[in-house]
Amino acid sequence: MSMDSQSNIFVFETPEQLALAAAERFVVCTAELRGATEKISVALAGGNTPRRVYELLATEPFKQQVEWSKVHLFFGDERCVPPDHRDSNYAMVNEALISNVPIPANNVHRIIGEGNANENALAYEAELRTYFAGLAWPRFDLVLLGMGEDGHTASLFPNSAALKEMSRWVVPTRNEQLGQDRITLTLPVFNHARRLMFLVTGQKKAQRLKEVLRPQPGSEQLPVQTITPIQGMLEWLVDADAASLV
Ligand code: 6PG
Repeated sequence: MSMDSQSNIFVFETPEQLALAAAERFVVCTAELRGATEKISVALAGGNTPRRVYELLATEPFKQQVEWSKVHLFFGDERCVPPDHRDSNYAMVNEALISNVPIPANNVHRIIGEGNANENALAYEAELRTYFAGLAWPRFDLVLLGMGEDGHTASLFPNSAALKEMSRWVVPTRNEQLGQDRITLTLPVFNHARRLMFLVTGQKKAQRLKEVLRPQPGSEQLPVQTITPIQGMLEWLVDADAASLV
């Protein structure tokens, strides 16, 4: 692992090493908070990259190091499909993690993908407002994020209305490239988190990662670049292939 001396960018030789480091951070972060708070909130990323992290968390030695009864799992975004659909982020996390650890069912807060997307977004916002009662914005203890090849994160796509949303916590949106309806947490929600981690792997993301981490003056700002925590910590965990042009 190498670290950019002036930044929060951590480069791992392989995706497996990156996944191990992310699982370790999850364990350390939740352990640090264990004594201080009754419940710990984590917003998970969908897509392929974090799947291995979730599998590792459901495997020893990680599994037993997490006090699962205190952990509340949320989702940064969801595809508008039923929870057993192959595109469902919930289905992926359920298979890799939830079904394999002793987490109470009430601690798993899935975004409903089936049915009316706007109603489901409003319902998820209501659920978040109950959990984060009294706060102007949610304050997630940990957020995992991925980066798409177009520079999107969660389901905040370039030039979308969702990206400009500054009052709602959760909105319906659409992945125009795939023609797929989505629901996503909004930018201010992510930017009020305590700690965020981007996980990025693969050669296909190398060019975009370079543009994101070494921006040219005047270049258009991509969604991932708008993740700038107000009072929180942001880390980039990337593998050598993704980092090859940085
Ligand atoms: C999703 C995401 C999305 C994802 C990126 C990267 O639901 O698809 O949350 O933002 O993180 O598209 O996806 P991969 O890890 O599959 O490359």
